[in-house]
Amino acid sequence: MSEPLPRQSIRELPDVLISQIAAGEVVERPASVVRELVDNAIDAGARQITLRLLGGGIRLIAVEDDGCGIPAEELAVALKRHATSKIVSLQDLESVATMGFRGEALAAINSVSEMSLLSRIEGASSAFVLDGQTGEVKPAARATGTTVEVKELFFSTPARRHFLKSENTELAHCIEAVRRHALVRPEVSFAIWHEGKIVAHWRSHPGEAGWNQRLADVLGEEFVASSVNIDFRSGPVHVRGRAGTPDAARARADQQFAYVNGRFVRDKVITHGARSAYEDVLHGHRQPVYVLYLQMDPTRVDVNVHPTKIEVRFRDSREVHQAMRYAIESALAVPRAQLLSTTSAFAPSTSPSTAPSSVPAQNIWAQRGMAFGANRLYEDPARAMADLKALWSTPPQVEEESPAGFSSAKIQLQTASAVASQVEHEWPLGRAIAQLQGVYILAENTQGLVVVDMHAAHERIVYERLKQQLDTTQITSQPLLIPASFSATPQEIATAESCADVLMQLGLEVSALSAKTLAVRAVPTSLAQGDCVELARSVLAELAQHDAATVVQRAQNEILATMACHGAVRANRKLSLDEMNALLRQMEATERSDQCNHGRPTWRQVGMRELDALFLRGR
Ligand SMILES: Nc1ncnc2c1ncn2[C@@H]1O[C@H](COP(=O)(O)OP(=O)(O)OP(=O)(O)O)[C@@H](O)[C@H]1O
Ligand SMILES: [Mg+2]
Repeated sequence: MSEPLPRQSIRELPDVLISQIAAGEVVERPASVVRELVDNAIDAGARQITLRLLGGGIRLIAVEDDGCGIPAEELAVALKRHATSKIVSLQDLESVATMGFRGEALAAINSVSEMSLLSRIEGASSAFVLDGQTGEVKPAARATGTTVEVKELFFSTPARRHFLKSENTELAHCIEAVRRHALVRPEVSFAIWHEGKIVAHWRSHPGEAGWNQRLADVLGEEFVASSVNIDFRSGPVHVRGRAGTPDAARARADQQFAYVNGRFVRDKVITHGARSAYEDVLHGHRQPVYVLYLQMDPTRVDVNVHPTKIEVRFRDSREVHQAMRYAIESALAVPRAQLLSTTSAFAPSTSPSTAPSSVPAQNIWAQRGMAFGANRLYEDPARAMADLKALWSTPPQVEEESPAGFSSAKIQLQTASAVASQVEHEWPLGRAIAQLQGVYILAENTQGLVVVDMHAAHERIVYERLKQQLDTTQITSQPLLIPASFSATPQEIATAESCADVLMQLGLEVSALSAKTLAVRAVPTSLAQGDCVELARSVLAELAQHDAATVVQRAQNEILATMACHGAVRANRKLSLDEMNALLRQMEATERSDQCNHGRPTWRQVGMRELDALFLRGR
């Protein structure tokens, strides 16, 4: 053990050191400087912001704007700690509308770099430049606006400089910092130069239509094409933006942008709310993509909780979580087929006026019991509803050779084909033409060829129907004439006993016949034709994993998914054209039918262009 150090007397730290310590919280790397300087330019009302970087921002960061500028006599004050033009009282702090409010950033940056501030206000005879080291102010030349130059970051604090990564990595972080601003300010144009070469240029796009264009410029056309529009109000929270379809999810969470009142934030409540909206449609551990703007009264959110302002605290985090979840969930629920009639499923229009309509989200929730979104195919909603009810409420007829649950698709044939003949050419998923290898349904629609994975699609339809039944009433249950008994593990018997209520709710009645045997006495009507023992076993296994009392909702969904998988039409089952058409019509009307219960796609459109390309056929 080392000797204890001799005690030193308590002394005040010199001002320079205090600033440097404070700077450590604000300025971590070149990208933090970029963020602060761009924040300032935006607060100054800039319409054009240009960044020039050298050495990944370590050697030089220069941010040039055409904002309001700083008067010569205030240049020196701007560099002082706690000097700001943005708030004057505690009250202002409670409703901050600007990016900055602490009067800390420039002071912090100045203490760890060589900085200069060049600025000119409207109507001034010339510009003035302030040397951050000497405090000297001199006349200089430039148009209205401000240029902040930051050289040799951390030159006076080598320990910090040591922590910086390679120039390329620091440059990537700097660009990311500007991207975050660019995604929320389409009316501002941004240019980034590195070592004399332009590395990004996003032109301004005024007005509402500019949003999607900016998203496409920054994140790629692909992002806009594979995302849906969000415009959802939930109490005091308004959520707008775009959320990627489950297909667009990525391996990394690198395209998740959330803003609160125009400020980019990283927040667990928001991320979790978004994540939970995808729970039912996302495959494996894929990460959803989204750019979402939350708007709420500034008094409902505290932005002064973190030195870098990237974290916020909500007055009521539950309302934010719910708003995020419902906003995304309800927009994703609308089957893409319903949007096909106006636009291609994989290339929705990029203009908000025709983009997938801002879903009448609240309606969907109100109507959830009927699983009927904004189907534009039906002119008369009442009739549409009646059709759907007819499709779904007919009691299943037992069909001898029909595999488990498939009778439910059959029952719809008459109704579906009757409607089909009237508006056949309009069906988004088209008219079935063939079945391929017992796995895929091929259909023809106005865009070309539709390929449907019939098991995956039917599985989702059965699942959604089971969910509705659970929502509205109990799942209808059918007693078995002869109970099906099977030898069970002690775990299965224990679960059957402890979860009898939940099982009942799910339409299953399972009870112990002996210490080692369970009997299935009743099963959900829609699954009556399946293998009851296998069904009971897998439901018991699911229930054993989930604490039924606390996570009933979640477990129910998973259990329902298991049940749906059993009930869905299996591969290698020959379907008639009528049966195939019935399935397509159900898909068009079923929420979330674009993904199977495991998040895989249920159908794909192969357009005429793609087919023509295969055959080198010019059009
Ligand atoms: N690009 C700019 N154009 C016009 N004024 C600016 C610019 N940059 C800084 N200022 C002025 O300098 C002041 C200090 O800037 P600084 O970034 O240090 O603090 P802030 O933005 O007020 O608060 P915060 O520390 O939260 O960023 C600002 O309040 C603003 O008046
Ligand atoms: Mg600032």
